[in-house]
Amino acid sequence: MRVGIVGAGTMGRVHAAAWSQTEAELVGVTALEPTSSAALAERYRARAFASYEELLREVDVVDLCVPTDLHCAMTLRAAAAGKHVVCEKPLALSLSDGERMIGACEAAGVRLFVAMVVRFFPQYALAARAVQALELGTLGVLRLKRVSYPPQVLDNWFADPARSGGMLVDLMIHDLDYARWLAGPVTRIFAKSVRSQRAGPGAAESEAGGARADYALVTLRHESGAMSLIEGGWAHPPGVFRTGFDLAGSSGVLEWRSEDTETIRPYLYPTADARDVAGVGVPTSALLEDPYSAEIRHVYEALASGAPFRVTAEEALEALRLALAAQRSLETGRPVHPQEVA
Ligand SMILES: NC(=O)c1ccc[n+]([C@@H]2O[C@H](COP(=O)([O-])OP(=O)(O)OC[C@H]3O[C@@H](n4cnc5c(N)ncnc54)[C@H](O)[C@@H]3O)[C@@H](O)[C@H]2O)c1
Repeated sequence: MRVGIVGAGTMGRVHAAAWSQTEAELVGVTALEPTSSAALAERYRARAFASYEELLREVDVVDLCVPTDLHCAMTLRAAAAGKHVVCEKPLALSLSDGERMIGACEAAGVRLFVAMVVRFFPQYALAARAVQALELGTLGVLRLKRVSYPPQVLDNWFADPARSGGMLVDLMIHDLDYARWLAGPVTRIFAKSVRSQRAGPGAAESEAGGARADYALVTLRHESGAMSLIEGGWAHPPGVFRTGFDLAGSSGVLEWRSEDTETIRPYLYPTADARDVAGVGVPTSALLEDPYSAEIRHVYEALASGAPFRVTAEEALEALRLALAAQRSLETGRPVHPQEVA
């Protein structure tokens, strides 16, 4: 399996490291800055390609680690060339683009994997398994949190909503997907956010006027009757990245915080019978597993064997729908049904 990586920034480097741990051949890298693609290619004894077109000709799989506004066009081009696509999240910036990407890959008979990596984090995967095995009984309340700082990259494309989709689409999409995965379809979304003019680092060069501190709360009402409360932010100081969850069901509560370094494992507190307290054990080795490597290994194995992906492009599209609905709720100040977003 010959793989080419497009983009040599944060995710290009992470994906290259992950592919190098599989049996796939990392053929090459291309990026806008030749020095960064050359450095990354050299590290993995791969080639630095001058253009996407040149790289496409030499590979079976392209792995798109480029700004989100390029996902659609590059996926359509890869599908037309008959290449499988791995695409960083979010799938696209609009549902119509996402649908075109899925349709083009289907029509071309190539596979499309969207890197919704949270599903590969051991804590999140373990909690999902516990929920799916009904260890918490009927899930009623989900509280998810993901807070970080305004991203700082070379041309600050994250600060431009026309390129990144903004904080809800770029960051909160992870937990919107997770909530939908665990508690099912959503019938109503309400969002509130606070934005400050405090710019993120590198903002001065941004045409969009700078990444602003941005903090949001999104509530989801699920068809099942469950409610999710999701917090997300690009408002903390550089270096902070905190995540966590509390999942409450009719027979237990499962909680985890990234800052719980001493107790880095989910706990199950059965409400039914205290004597049955069963820790949901997390082998130490599972926590040492890098989720990005686990994700790419999964992609490699699924492509090699023809097995289904653990997360489908249609699910990534539904996560995008929720993020866009939350965005619309912010803009209109009213609750939004996800199907209102075309
Ligand atoms: N899953 C996660 O945890 C996670 C984290 C960060 C970013 N992301 C996603 O990954 C994607 C990339 O983000 P990043 O942080 O790596 O960005 P980045 O700015 O660090 O890197 C982007 C790379 O794309 C290259 N590029 C830009 N235009 C190009 C073009 N026309 N042709 C070829 N290369 C081009 C740039 O040269 C750069 O090397 C985004 O969709 C982002 O939302 C996901």
